[in-house]
Amino acid sequence: MRIISVTNQKGGCGKTTTAVNLSACLAANGKKVLLIDLDPQAHATLGLNIRAEACIYNVLSKISVKKTPLEGIIKKVTPGFDIAPSGIVLSTLEQELAGEIGRESRLWEVLQENKQLNRYDYLIIDLPPNLGILTVNAIRASSEIIIPVEASRFSLEGVNQLLKIIELIKDRLNHNVSYKILVTNFDSRLRHSFSMLDKIKESFKGNVFGTIIHVNVKLKEAQSYGTHILSYDKYSRGAKDYFTLSREMISGSVKTDTAADNKMASLDKRMKESITENMPRLKEVVFSMSFPEAKEVHVAGDFNRWQVSDNSRMSKNNGRWFKKMTLEPGAYHYRFVVDGTWMDDPENPRKETNPFGQTNSLLNIK
Ligand SMILES: Nc1ncnc2c1ncn2[C@@H]1O[C@H](COP(=O)(O)OP(=O)(O)O)[C@@H](O)[C@H]1O
Ligand SMILES: [Mg+2]
Repeated sequence: MRIISVTNQKGGCGKTTTAVNLSACLAANGKKVLLIDLDPQAHATLGLNIRAEACIYNVLSKISVKKTPLEGIIKKVTPGFDIAPSGIVLSTLEQELAGEIGRESRLWEVLQENKQLNRYDYLIIDLPPNLGILTVNAIRASSEIIIPVEASRFSLEGVNQLLKIIELIKDRLNHNVSYKILVTNFDSRLRHSFSMLDKIKESFKGNVFGTIIHVNVKLKEAQSYGTHILSYDKYSRGAKDYFTLSREMISGSVKTDTAADNKMASLDKRMKESITENMPRLKEVVFSMSFPEAKEVHVAGDFNRWQVSDNSRMSKNNGRWFKKMTLEPGAYHYRFVVDGTWMDDPENPRKETNPFGQTNSLLNIK
């Protein structure tokens, strides 16, 4: 049985998304997986729409009135994928354990005592965004650590701080644990992402997963729909990425991202078919508008979540502004932002009133 913690003291770097979707993809490979939600905010539990009377607090606490064995709180998510849920009450555990001897090993003890856990191939532990007692307990209990790092917000200092803590725990508790960095939220439209990726690979050499998790809105949507990516949209980029990661975890081999063909070969047949079927469907569209006096123009719409950023900036040529995008077929709403002022596309007669009483321009890609 492999016990793997997903940790980083930074919030929002994809810990919960990774813990949930990697678990689902390992299960899709026929592995038996238990996801332990060790974050008092219970994002994994809530994100999988699990409602529980008792949670991991009732297992770890020695004074809980509802003391429950681990087996008593486990819930089924999908075939092969179980969860030990969390709840806000877990936030009191820290204080409760403060005076106890061996407080760093509470989770480890529980896992050791429970022989029935041997039915699982993988235990995946999701953690809060801090290096408190829960994280120390998880590292103590784990044989491996996944550190999700956002390419866009990578800080060498932050990861080094985390690695120092891991080293300290290894040393103090005489416990061996390996780690690997997982690059998440990778935006291949930004040149900046690639230079960050190079920096990460250079800093951590062999300790970086070959699989990279790209930005994919479906991952966010799945979470808000209360499910994981394989049941929300198994043909999405997010599903493909986490499925590839699960294969890399199982085979143990690190594929370099240039070996795209190898990656394809390791995907199962249905995944592969769906990808080749989906990829050529993307269409190139060019947005353009005439505004010779403008200094800066952006195009924002539901294809870029209405975000004005480096990604939405149009470039100027002979007084006209242009932006090339590659989009899936579908119906889109968009507006231009001319020197900070939002407007619809004056050259496109197809418009629709939005909830704010303004007009959005419409685009239909067949
Ligand atoms: N690859 C991704 N693409 C798009 N959104 C993502 C991706 N990974 C995570 N998110 C979203 O970002 C937010 C933070 O991710 P989460 O996994 O909860 O981070 P953490 O657990 O580290 O705090 C969530 O809303 C999640 O849905
Ligand atoms: Mg989280």
